Amino acid sequence: MRRKLVVANRKMNGNLSSNKVFFEGLLAGTQDHKNADYVVCVPHPYLFQAEAMLKGSLIAWGGQNMSRYESGAYTGSVSPGMLKDFGCEYVIIGHSERRQRGHDTDLSTGERFEVATNAGLKPIFCMGETLEEFEDGLTDIVTIRQLNAVIQEIGMQGLAKGVLAYEPVWAIGTGRAATSEHAQNILSFLRGHIEILDAEVARNIRILYGGSVKADNAAKLFSMPDIDGALVGGASLNTEEFVALCQAASQAKSN
Ligand code: 13P
Repeated sequence: MRRKLVVANRKMNGNLSSNKVFFEGLLAGTQDHKNADYVVCVPHPYLFQAEAMLKGSLIAWGGQNMSRYESGAYTGSVSPGMLKDFGCEYVIIGHSERRQRGHDTDLSTGERFEVATNAGLKPIFCMGETLEEFEDGLTDIVTIRQLNAVIQEIGMQGLAKGVLAYEPVWAIGTGRAATSEHAQNILSFLRGHIEILDAEVARNIRILYGGSVKADNAAKLFSMPDIDGALVGGASLNTEEFVALCQAASQAKSN
């Protein structure tokens, strides 16, 4: 059984006081919704606050990126060990906003996935095509290329330690979410590819959809047999909306 998982990617938003309101709202709003898992990925400076406020609750927290190195002369970078020091369970790897600016490549995301799992973190590995690639019918080719880069680096047992997320670039922050049918098709295709390599990993690995997920489209997305939850940007900045989304996940059937 794959429990639904909802991940807030707060991107470069929030401050001490707005985070406090968000965490309090989330703690109160999810206490009767124990049938799903929740993660909040905040900017690095606020990990201490997430740890202080969420420790011992249903809600886990994580980083939005990390270095592939353990330590050294990498100005401005944060290592996996540093994320662990602040209680992180998860880290986002390969988000398109980092791929697009050249910070991440297929090779570096594979390496980073491995470094994260070695440090005991669960990577949330993002894949997705641009609008141009979507219009050219290249979604399958692009996502498989991104997935295979990780599989090549860490193998199937390594992959099983993470979570996958399909986030089409054209759906991120645009209000134009993929239809639940499109998202289901791609996730089923990705799971099918994994199944050929290892049926058990395919059965157990959680694959999320991300891109303009809101309270009003969540239930339909969560009803799909291969969609195991959501990676949420904009809607995670509104506490009520995000809590509603968590409730939809808790009320949905596990896959
Ligand atoms: P939006 O939910 O704002 O489209 O962002 C999705 C995303 O990038 C999550 O990582």
